[in-house]
Amino acid sequence: MDAITCIKERMSIRAFTDKPVPRELLTEIIDTAKWSPSYKNSQPWEVLVLSGEKKEGLSNLLLNLFEQGEEPTPDLTSPTSWPAREQAQIDNLFAMRKEATGIDLADPKIIAVAKKANFKFYKAPHAIYLFQEDSLSSWSLFDLGLFSQSLMLAAHARGLGTVPQAFVTDYALQTKEFLNIPRSKRLVLGLSIGWPDLESPANQLRTERMATEEIITWQE
Ligand SMILES: Cc1cc2nc3c(=O)[nH]c(=O)nc-3n(C[C@H](O)[C@H](O)[C@H](O)COP(=O)(O)O)c2cc1C
Repeated sequence: MDAITCIKERMSIRAFTDKPVPRELLTEIIDTAKWSPSYKNSQPWEVLVLSGEKKEGLSNLLLNLFEQGEEPTPDLTSPTSWPAREQAQIDNLFAMRKEATGIDLADPKIIAVAKKANFKFYKAPHAIYLFQEDSLSSWSLFDLGLFSQSLMLAAHARGLGTVPQAFVTDYALQTKEFLNIPRSKRLVLGLSIGWPDLESPANQLRTERMATEEIITWQE
């Protein structure tokens, strides 16, 4: 698969088959992602792969905290409002999803259902957490973003599905404690990874993008 096809075909996968992914393949994908560029080649990425009982244990912890009404305390603050340009894209996504599935992501009851599905890692056989020292600058956060896209593209090129999940960092303190990640690290992103169930309705929605003319300005 060439790079352009891979970038354009990748999409978030929210339903997986039960089949586990061999450790060698997960290793290959992370080994590929590490070739991402980073500020001064500092490589500010740390990766934890979760499977089996440990993944189930974390799922249960997150679900319990949510059910108990525990206030989320992610290491990266969640946005409370968006500029109009970006808010319009979010509104478009929500409208598309409502039309395609009847699910209204603006409805608090639906948000609760969506959060629980996230905390179950969409029943994927594996979850990956990306983290780094909290004292690193914003450039390192940027670098970890590059790493995560490389990881998702490498997975797609090998027929695997992924979804990046900010939600699974909601209870960062408790998650780090459960996973023996030192408090000095910031938990940046979780991802579910596995073989995609391409027949599932959850995987039928293809998101849109702004027109290219809307994002480019040429100056000569
Ligand atoms: C930083 C980040 C956080 C995200 N958090 C979540 C999440 O918590 N749950 C989820 O289902 N999708 C999450 N997504 C997936 C986005 O909704 C998705 O990437 C976007 O709608 C574009 O769709 P696509 O990935 O299929 O191209 C996240 C994506 C990114 C980049």
